[in-house]
Amino acid sequence: MTTEVPSPVNISTRPDHEKILGATTLHFDTLDSTNTEARKLANQGAAEGVCVVAREQTAGRGRLGRNWNSPAGAGLYLSIILRPNASPARAAFITLAAAIAVAETLIQDFHTPADIKYPNDILVNGKKICGILVESSITENKLEYAILGIGVNIAQPDFPDELKTIATSLRIEANLGITPDEFLEPLLVKLNHWYIEALANPAAIIEGWQTLSSYARDAKIRVISNDSIIEGTTRGLTASGALLVELDDGQIREIVSGDITIRSLESGV
Ligand code: BTN
Repeated sequence: MTTEVPSPVNISTRPDHEKILGATTLHFDTLDSTNTEARKLANQGAAEGVCVVAREQTAGRGRLGRNWNSPAGAGLYLSIILRPNASPARAAFITLAAAIAVAETLIQDFHTPADIKYPNDILVNGKKICGILVESSITENKLEYAILGIGVNIAQPDFPDELKTIATSLRIEANLGITPDEFLEPLLVKLNHWYIEALANPAAIIEGWQTLSSYARDAKIRVISNDSIIEGTTRGLTASGALLVELDDGQIREIVSGDITIRSLESGV
């Protein structure tokens, strides 16, 4: 039996040296998952900033083992190879930085009101428009590389029944007929900026994230993890990027992004 190796249909480069992320972008027609392909390339030594984009994913992955709905031409399916000279703990800031970059792109470039739900869901009008999945390779407590996977719903006119109440797209929210590639360009500019901040100035990430998230402070939420459910009121992020939640009895808990799901007790989202 032969295994078919996917090959890019196009390779684009951005010669601007400041634009490290996206200096080379490999465009594929169909992949199982751009994160899987980027991981393969990273293991073969691909450089920091190489982007993998697919028109369609047949096995797009979400957080917590979920699928990411990835029909052809409807969404941006992007994975970026990152090789930061940083501790594994810094990976949390990369995730928060990516969420800021997507939210800012929606707000500033497409005039669409975006909100961030901890740690990294981007919502518009209470429905999810973007998800972020960072997968890290760590050896001897050093971050060897991280794959930053970003899925943005762009051109879907609607969603399958099971997603209708929770997912949305730029087309639905802003009636914009843009393509995933047209979203990629301004997104890369913002990703470059916020990635540099994540490594050099994490306090700016905390500040930027809190400014863009209605969940950061005074939001009544439920936090669901594998072994517990807690409810309380958000009290901002810590310096290391954990979410502070005050329980009804006044105790403060630090929620670390990981295997958790957060629901608003006000809107249910
Ligand atoms: C989430 O569950 O919210 C995260 C979704 C991440 C989806 C993106 S699409 C591009 C990249 N490739 C994948 O298989 N997943 C991420």
